[in-house]
Amino acid sequence: MSSISKQPPLGEALELELRISEDSPIEQTPQPRWMRDSRHHHRRFTWRSILFGAFCLYALYCFIRGSPLFASPLPSYTGPYGVGAVDLEVPLSGGPERVVDAAVKSTGQPAFEVETLLATVYYPTDRHFRSRKPRYPWIPRPISLTAQGYARVAGVENFLTRPIFTFGLWAVGGAVSIPAEVDAPLLNGEKGLEAFPVTVFSHGDVSSRTDYTNFLGELASRGHVALAIEHRDGSGPGSIVKTSAGSPGRQVLPLRPSDIDLDLDRDAFKRAQLAFRDVEFHAAVDLLHAITNGTPIPNTRDPITTLPSWAGRLNTTLLTLAGHSFGATGALQALTTLSSSPAAGLILDPGKSSGPLNPNATVPILVVHSNSWSRTVSPFYNRPHFDTVRDLVRAIPAPSWFLTSIGTAHPSVTDAPLLEPLLLSWTTGANLDTKEALREYVRVADDFSLFVRGGDERGILVQKTTHQLYGEWVSEEREEEFPRDLARLWEVHVTPEDQTRPMGRPVEL
Ligand SMILES: *[C@@H]1O[C@H](CO)[C@@H](O)[C@H](O)[C@H]1NC(C)=O
Ligand SMILES: *[C@@H]1O[C@H](CO)[C@@H](O)[C@H](O)[C@H]1NC(C)=O
Repeated sequence: MSSISKQPPLGEALELELRISEDSPIEQTPQPRWMRDSRHHHRRFTWRSILFGAFCLYALYCFIRGSPLFASPLPSYTGPYGVGAVDLEVPLSGGPERVVDAAVKSTGQPAFEVETLLATVYYPTDRHFRSRKPRYPWIPRPISLTAQGYARVAGVENFLTRPIFTFGLWAVGGAVSIPAEVDAPLLNGEKGLEAFPVTVFSHGDVSSRTDYTNFLGELASRGHVALAIEHRDGSGPGSIVKTSAGSPGRQVLPLRPSDIDLDLDRDAFKRAQLAFRDVEFHAAVDLLHAITNGTPIPNTRDPITTLPSWAGRLNTTLLTLAGHSFGATGALQALTTLSSSPAAGLILDPGKSSGPLNPNATVPILVVHSNSWSRTVSPFYNRPHFDTVRDLVRAIPAPSWFLTSIGTAHPSVTDAPLLEPLLLSWTTGANLDTKEALREYVRVADDFSLFVRGGDERGILVQKTTHQLYGEWVSEEREEEFPRDLARLWEVHVTPEDQTRPMGRPVEL
């Protein structure tokens, strides 16, 4: 139980922990998968539930004192353009697609049938445009569904915890909204920006489409159209599937292998989720094509008006597939399964516990690890995870990079640390200022996009390798010449130059 005394006695820690739990600090202990036993999991749920108790007390305390739990609202975006957002839910054009024949025991509903795609699209708009529509809430409604999902993930769901979690979540983030203009018109074309490059973004485990709004909004404010998928594969805290406008919809809650009527081990279960996510990736790309082709979009969410004017305004040949954690694992896979070839992959902290990484992409990829992701040595199919990622990037038959962002932790690219900046350093040991960390992620994603568009390299992408192994300079000369302000932020593990050369030194396994 000593882990509790090291944590802040606040439930926000837990909130974050749950949001990032695919690869939570506990999962990162260098202990092979086959050695983990059920006792380990049991203990984890117990200390989680104790933290939750502490959190609820704290929430109550803040409520009585009238002070907000989250110190700061989400900041506005810093690029040259304003940012618009639209929620879209679109039934699959060919009808529901069942990827694995299994039902949820408690409801009898299919566990792995994709009926619709739900996504939020962030896009550039005029800086001065102000929408009359209310901003989207950061926690998708109804809050009680999300709360029930978190309680279930923590293994403490019952009639008593549900209202407590709902209250806690409402107190933490109920008032936070996403600072993008809902249903704003797409930015007018100007020379060189007739059609915008597009990115499809996939979230990590125990997350939703609203967990990366700052990162995606920042890209939109720099001239990208970014579509954030909400996966309904049982990996999110809670979501509602609406197959037609006006229908109440079907609730989707987190799923574990034991919740379905098919005997799948953990790996097979992850594969089923990945296959589900792959269908959603395809649907997202189809949706972007439909929008730019001017096809009417059968949206089942709140009506929006801006889409018809987007015809011809998306450059779908400049399609980047992106993701974080489990989502990065999915993006690597989708890069190989789409029929119309995407242009690039943006891979942030590819999963450690979400199954093997697909090595078969043939387009440029940029892999960015957070510091804690690289620093923690994790066994991954009999090799260190870091080495697997490095060798994967080296072998991609297109110019690709692998970098570590120093001073960051796994959730640095999500919104959570922006809402409670202290949170991240307390819980994960990240030390780079939250906003600076996010700015670096946005900058490198934008630099990579420039490269994909025209082959120009700038920023950290012009730098040669500094560290083939995490934390070890390739040479003293390189350490001398690498600019200090960059050394504070980055380690460069693979560049296009390395992809054509044998390794400079033997790899220690
Ligand atoms: C990658 O390609 C190889 C060779 O074609 C194939 O054997 C392997 O199954 C592929 N991996 C995945 C994950 O699809
Ligand atoms: C899409 O981008 C590519 C590369 O920059 C460019 O050659 C092409 O003309 C663009 N297409 C549209 C429709 O703007």
